[in-house]
Amino acid sequence: MVKAVVAGASGGIGQPLSLLLKNSSLVDELALYDVVNTPGVAADLSHISSKAVVTGYLPKDDGLKQAFTGADIVVIPAGIPRKPGMTRDDLFKINAGIVKGLIEGIAQHAPKAYILVISNPVNSTVPIAAEVLKKAGVFDPKKLFGVTTLDVVRAETFVASITGEKEPHKLNIPVIGGHSGETIVPLFSQAQPSVDIPSDKLDALVNRVQFGGDEVVKAKDGAGSATLSMAYAGFRFAEKVLKAAKGEKGIVEPSYVYLPGVPGGDAIAKTVGVEYFSVPIELGPSGVENAVDVVSKANDHEKKLLEAAYKGLKDNIAKGVDFANNPP
Ligand code: NAD
Ligand code: LMR
Repeated sequence: MVKAVVAGASGGIGQPLSLLLKNSSLVDELALYDVVNTPGVAADLSHISSKAVVTGYLPKDDGLKQAFTGADIVVIPAGIPRKPGMTRDDLFKINAGIVKGLIEGIAQHAPKAYILVISNPVNSTVPIAAEVLKKAGVFDPKKLFGVTTLDVVRAETFVASITGEKEPHKLNIPVIGGHSGETIVPLFSQAQPSVDIPSDKLDALVNRVQFGGDEVVKAKDGAGSATLSMAYAGFRFAEKVLKAAKGEKGIVEPSYVYLPGVPGGDAIAKTVGVEYFSVPIELGPSGVENAVDVVSKANDHEKKLLEAAYKGLKDNIAKGVDFANNPP
């Protein structure tokens, strides 16, 4: 029996993500937690004739405890989204506290759950989550994931728009680093099958992957950021985690993890000089089974991009760690 929880379930990402989880044969129980509207969202989804039993919780009546208890996987899209002109780091002030509170709840009520953090700034919210779990004595780095799948999905889509690939989701493109602007580094040289990007299109393509989020924020014109593509990406990653948990082999997808705590991660951490970094990870029943070193195979152009990513990540990570240990 698999219990999945969505924290932030009434939001722009939370609702379509909950719909996809409700429709999944991998989920038996789906608990929706938010500070607003979960009774309505849960009632609505519960009429769908797929097998998952849906329940909705608010903070009152010990809702957080009820939602999280017994969870196998918790996906967190709780928090405010960007408006035009904002960076993801501008969300830190509000979202850091939201993520901290939710992780404290997970540490108490679902310490063995896989935790998938979507809330921005991911570069900082994942370190916050790790510090809170460490403090509670329940940190399993193999089960904490910053969801960077949307960057991978965008890379597949934007590459296909250049190469004419008919089934973009079958491309395998490592996108590594973090989840904001220049910290996002697509490694097109390691795409499988290989892709041929004309040199005069490469810079624009890299830029589009790095700033794809801004494209959506601008188009939504004040009404938020990516929600539907994020729900697709969040579900795609959650599904992989659940399939691997059931024993399926060979599942690899990039995710932002605490490198020193995962098999294969130590050597990569030494190369990149930061502890939190997104790399392709092989998933298994215990979570991360192996972090794949794609960094050392980056070409010279990609190595330059990586240098900028390391710089940006250092500050973002330090800010998250500091917040968790010295809350304002
Ligand atoms: P939204 O405002 O539509 O929804 C957020 C939801 O979180 C709301 O329903 C709100 O009530 C809820 N919430 C707030 N505080 C909460 C708490 N303490 N506990 C539970 N729920 C709480 O925003 P959205 O568009 O769904 O985006 C959510 C977050 O996801 C943002 O931070 C956004 O930047 C981020 N995001 C990340 C990625 C990624 O690739 N990782 C992609 C898109 C968006
Ligand atoms: C994205 O990449 O779409 C998200 O991180 C949301 C944003 O703020 O751009």
